Amino acid sequence: MTFVPFTMERWQSIYEHAVDLNLSESGVHPLTLAELTDLAGIDRGVLDGRLLEYVQSNGGDLLRERIAAIYPGATAEDVVVTNGTAEANFVVTWDLAAKGGEFIFMEPNYFQIRGIAENLGVQVKSWWLDQPSWDANLAALDELVTDRTRAIFVCNPNNPTGRCFGEDFIAGVTAAAGRVGAWVLADEVYRGAEHRGGETPSFWGSYDRAIAVCGLSKAYGLPGLRIGWALAGGGYAERLWARKDYTTISPSTLSEYLAGAALEPSARQALLARTRGILNANWAVLEAWLEERSEMFRWRNPEAGAISLVEFRHQVDTGELAEALRRDESCLVQPGSQFGLPRHLRLGIGPPTAALEDGLGRLSRVLERTAHAAGQGV
Ligand SMILES: Cc1ncc(COP(=O)(O)O)c(C=O)c1O
Repeated sequence: MTFVPFTMERWQSIYEHAVDLNLSESGVHPLTLAELTDLAGIDRGVLDGRLLEYVQSNGGDLLRERIAAIYPGATAEDVVVTNGTAEANFVVTWDLAAKGGEFIFMEPNYFQIRGIAENLGVQVKSWWLDQPSWDANLAALDELVTDRTRAIFVCNPNNPTGRCFGEDFIAGVTAAAGRVGAWVLADEVYRGAEHRGGETPSFWGSYDRAIAVCGLSKAYGLPGLRIGWALAGGGYAERLWARKDYTTISPSTLSEYLAGAALEPSARQALLARTRGILNANWAVLEAWLEERSEMFRWRNPEAGAISLVEFRHQVDTGELAEALRRDESCLVQPGSQFGLPRHLRLGIGPPTAALEDGLGRLSRVLERTAHAAGQGV
């Protein structure tokens, strides 16, 4: 079996700190430690006195209680705290893969779960959102489900489209899964990063075999804390905890403390409001830039996340384009090829507004040069 690498993560991790401008990130510009302690009213002396010990491996009681409080009817026993949403995705996928059968994976999507599953030897079928609307075709999902389907994996709000799906979507996915007793894993890491309106409904509580995962990296602007969680009822969280004992043992003690403070209800609201402010200010900048180039691009306005997926109307190799932008202009964007969409670019709208404007200026220059080289107008 050939190992499937996670190309997108590697591309980002090699270059994101090496470029002047990073428009490849899907979360908002992170807070500094000082900003977080001010916002959450944390006494810095508490951090100084904190023992650098292991914490309980499924996460301490306070943090699990604060996570559970986000989800109606959940208790701390339903929560496993992980090192990022990535570890939550890993332990769930690892556990479900051990049950045998096939997986169905929503696409386009963050590739992690698909890559893990394939590397564990699981057969994975794609369930594509419709293009270019990015609507979810529930009838098509239903056709993909067979007696061999062990689990369905969705990402809602969706990376990279920025689409948010509501109660009808949850009902359709859980009905399709319920027909054959399949599990559902909903990666909800962009929940809370909606540009307007309330939070996207969670899969939590929708179905006895639904598992929701989330974390602080995107909607909360705290990726460096590396705190995520899996939420599952009926004792399944306990099963995931048993898997987690083998992976990273526990979250970092400093992160666990800071995450607990960040999820205190008023601090949580302040963090989400900060995110929303950044997203709305920056989407206005990107939208104006795109509208000036509407003969070149088509797009659907994102509903959540610091991401915008744009498609070239003419044939462009966005892998080459992103490479030219990185090499010649020191600006990083995500080529759509990393999501199976070779004509698309994913542009991050999370950085400080001036950085976004600067990055778009550099992208404009590369587009002009490419067009001139091809003898086209821009
Ligand atoms: C859908 C999705 N899930 C999980 C992750 C990883 O999140 P974390 O930083 O919380 O591990 C990402 C990161 O981009 C993502 O887009």
